[in-house]
Amino acid sequence: MMVPLKRRKRDVSGETHDAIKYPHVVIFLLERRMGSSRRAFLTRLGRSKGFHVEESFSTVVTHVVSEGNSGGEVQEWLDTQAPRRQTHRPLHLLDISWFTDSMGASRPVDIEDRHMLEVPTLPICDAREQTVSPYACQRRTPLQHHNSILIDALEVLAENAQFHESEGRSLAFRKAGSVLKALPLDVQSMEDLRGVPCLGEHSQRVIKEILKYGVSREVKAVLESERYQVLKVLTSVFGVGVKTADRWFREGVRTPGELVTSGRRLTREQEAGVRHYKHLSIPVTRAEARAIERIVKEAVLAVLPGVQLTLTGGFRRGKQTGHDVDFLITHPEEGKEEGLLPKVISWLESQDLLLYNKMNENSYGEAKELHSRPVSSMDRFERCFSIFRLDQPASGTQQPGASSAGEAQGSAPLGGQGACEPRGWKAVRVDLVVTPISQFAFALLGWTGSQHFERELRRWAGQEKQMSLNSHALFDRRQKKFLPASSEEEIFTHLGLDYIPPSERNA
Ligand code: UTP
Ligand code: MN
Repeated sequence: MMVPLKRRKRDVSGETHDAIKYPHVVIFLLERRMGSSRRAFLTRLGRSKGFHVEESFSTVVTHVVSEGNSGGEVQEWLDTQAPRRQTHRPLHLLDISWFTDSMGASRPVDIEDRHMLEVPTLPICDAREQTVSPYACQRRTPLQHHNSILIDALEVLAENAQFHESEGRSLAFRKAGSVLKALPLDVQSMEDLRGVPCLGEHSQRVIKEILKYGVSREVKAVLESERYQVLKVLTSVFGVGVKTADRWFREGVRTPGELVTSGRRLTREQEAGVRHYKHLSIPVTRAEARAIERIVKEAVLAVLPGVQLTLTGGFRRGKQTGHDVDFLITHPEEGKEEGLLPKVISWLESQDLLLYNKMNENSYGEAKELHSRPVSSMDRFERCFSIFRLDQPASGTQQPGASSAGEAQGSAPLGGQGACEPRGWKAVRVDLVVTPISQFAFALLGWTGSQHFERELRRWAGQEKQMSLNSHALFDRRQKKFLPASSEEEIFTHLGLDYIPPSERNA
């Protein structure tokens, strides 16, 4: 795959080069530590002596020359180059000494040991370079993973970036944390990460520091910062986003309890979030999710026979606890599900099972603009955000978590707190979503998560397939048509992806 000589005489800037005397040697100067002005100087020097020096790296390059970089670093850089080299021509990774020797001799000198960069070899069993895919929706990410210390650190940085509304930075850290979740081994050194995608420079720096010293100073500083601590607590209140939490922080609010004592104006949602703060900050167990499922099932069947109820979200992915319980409600006969939710809510209210609820009506039917616009990522299902009042067995050992905000008022005691209390109850966040059967597979895929897996599915669809995916539908922008599906497997097939089961979507 040689480039015709004529074309090689011009670089991207259109500058003509001196005639190439050694066509079998194609040099690429790696700028990293060399710096751009020295690189430009060496490029001119090489060309004036008849060497072929390429501006950019590609498959025609035979000699990569760097200055002040280790072989490992150059290999790391090489691994990030796309498209990957598909050539069997040998690629020499060389120190600048080979280049200067060649300049001195005015010809490419034979490569000696001292010119060659030493690239540490990977153990033969390590096939990760081939197996870690760049999109989270191409990878299998189990619930139990290695490298929690690294992942937790990157997630703190992602969260902190979100608290500064730096979405791009946050996503970069999330991607890095997520790719580590898919690795089958404990990372012991940077060498173990060779060929692993999605690790930006900043994330690598943090990982390197933790591998070396056990902690990252940056992460430690974030964890110790008052703003991070307060925003973490305030954004964990139901109905409170980053913007609101940030404003309250600047106004001096430090705990959810203070929102009540300061007499601040709260939305109905936030008011419920503060009132039930203690309960809602205790993770919901799988047993509690099942108990809620039984209640919701009774409610939906009382309203309409034949309704199908599906537990989604983290519990469907196999998580043992969650921050809420997510359900999809559908009916095998299209259209029967319409208007179902208000009746279900009434039934639940009549049984005194709801502490809070807010309904959103289905607006998807109005979305006739879908053909002209890419599918919006917001879903428009008939939906209810609610807080259930779940009875707890008397023997319950659960206690309200002593949160750092611990002053929220008004929650009733949980069972087991006072020995003589026969039964207590617990406030539990529940999302109920109604979908027509024709959209069920999309809704199931969209609501099973994880959030990062979903984001990556949509990115894959858009960037690699020119399709738009949301929880209602998949639209092929080239064919200008919707691609129907009645199962998650079919959607993966439409997207050209291997099927990943829910238990491996914990990206
Ligand atoms: P959750 O926020 O409930 O996350 O959203 P989770 O994975 O179940 O985790 P925990 O255990 O509750 O903390 C579940 C899925 O539903 C999607 C999210 O993208 C996620 O994939 N979702 C959530 C929506 O599509 N729309 C929403 O408005 C909320
Ligand atoms: Mn959930």
